Amino acid sequence: MVQWPAKWRRRSVAITPAEAAPAATADYQRRSEELSVPDSQSALLLHAIRTPYEIKSGHTIPSIQHDHELLIRVNSVGLNPIDWKAPDFNFGIPELPYISGRELVGTIVKAPTAPNSRLRNGDVVVVPSTDYRDLRKAAFQEYTIASSFNSIRLPHSISPEQGSILGVAFVSAILALGINMGVDFSAIEDGPDLLTIVRSIDPSRLPDDIRKECLEGIAPEERAKKGDFLVVWGGSSTCAHTLKQLARLVGLRIVSVVDTAKHGLRLSSTEPVRPDLLVDAHDPERAIAVIRSATKNAARFGFDTQGKDSAAHLLRALASKTALPDDASTFDVAKTVRLPTPPSTPHETSATPRSHLVGLTGVPKTNIPEDVALHNVPIKLFHEIPEVGEALSAWCERLLLKGLLVPPDVVGTVEGLEGINEGLDRLRRREVSGGRLVAVLR
Ligand SMILES: NC(=O)c1ccc[n+]([C@@H]2O[C@H](COP(=O)([O-])OP(=O)(O)OC[C@H]3O[C@@H](n4cnc5c(N)ncnc54)[C@H](OP(=O)(O)O)[C@@H]3O)[C@@H](O)[C@H]2O)c1
Repeated sequence: MVQWPAKWRRRSVAITPAEAAPAATADYQRRSEELSVPDSQSALLLHAIRTPYEIKSGHTIPSIQHDHELLIRVNSVGLNPIDWKAPDFNFGIPELPYISGRELVGTIVKAPTAPNSRLRNGDVVVVPSTDYRDLRKAAFQEYTIASSFNSIRLPHSISPEQGSILGVAFVSAILALGINMGVDFSAIEDGPDLLTIVRSIDPSRLPDDIRKECLEGIAPEERAKKGDFLVVWGGSSTCAHTLKQLARLVGLRIVSVVDTAKHGLRLSSTEPVRPDLLVDAHDPERAIAVIRSATKNAARFGFDTQGKDSAAHLLRALASKTALPDDASTFDVAKTVRLPTPPSTPHETSATPRSHLVGLTGVPKTNIPEDVALHNVPIKLFHEIPEVGEALSAWCERLLLKGLLVPPDVVGTVEGLEGINEGLDRLRRREVSGGRLVAVLR
């Protein structure tokens, strides 16, 4: 039987005058055309591990379940390493068929009904979709659900393609700095003091697997502040791009370790991400020696974006009273294969503040000096704790509006959901460097 394509049967949700944006929202992008929602959509489904995603038309439009949720028509999607690593290595896939896609820009077609929302129908928003277990919120579909506190209005100065690659990097960077390293952003555009926020709410509301990190990960006297050194190993990555900008806002001094032949000129000549010291990663022993010498063994904060080997090198570049083995291979490494944060190293208050190493893809497991604490980013705080999500999203809007945060570079685009498999193959072949690919849906 031939079925009439359901997507032509539309329900109108035209914007009414009552919903028109107040003057205060004029700085942000809005779509003034009629916004309508079809009865079904196309989505990109993963049916089995280690297979390509497949387009499915006639797929259900995800439904709103809470008054803080909104329905978004997806305009563009940023392609992330997790989008190919999860199916290839079989992690972070809670069910099959699965819908991936961790960040997007889209237009709100059903605004939240909760009172006092920042958001209106027609607003163009950036959504970092960190809640990977909720398929309604995935980006690889034409319509998606977001929470209001996870939605960031897009200023006119930033294109939807640029906006669609900002979210994951922003959330990772701000939580690494604000929670793992304890940076207080309250002096910067009324930014968040995340440690104070998470330590003032009922601890039972914090997810079990990140509670210890939030409450005990760093002591008050150890918090990173102006003038402290932050060593970023893998400083060319998209997450590093955002982290360095936020760290500079509070006056941290940044040492960035990269392949200088490949990234040196770009990074040292791009003002928002220019580090205080650029170090070549080619010879890790030399890089460690340069960092320890230049910082006078005083670098207490490290952020690794690459993996087990570089995290072990970074550990040896940080300040510690313990003499570390010369050979990084003596560090066995615990790989982070899930987003949740493993238990952090317990701390005892001591006269000398500890060093803190944050690993995006894993941290060393053995031979860890007592005065170095290891951390993974408690990413789920963004979608599980509304106070944190709202503080981050509202602050991000202000930073973008004032030009204090510049999105990473869009280094290529693919057409529609259909182009995503090809784009992810380019990521697999390591052809994407210095920014992200974007899938443009409409
Ligand atoms: N735990 C968390 O919550 C969390 C959050 C965000 C990201 N992550 C993970 O952190 C890492 C960095 O994320 P990102 O988004 O910043 O990375 P990214 O910008 O997408 O890539 C970083 C660099 O990785 C290299 N690269 C590209 N394709 C590769 C491949 N196929 N194999 C090996 N290396 C490749 C490139 O280096 P060159 O330019 O030098 O070639 C690229 O610049 C990723 O593994 C990501 O999955 C974890």
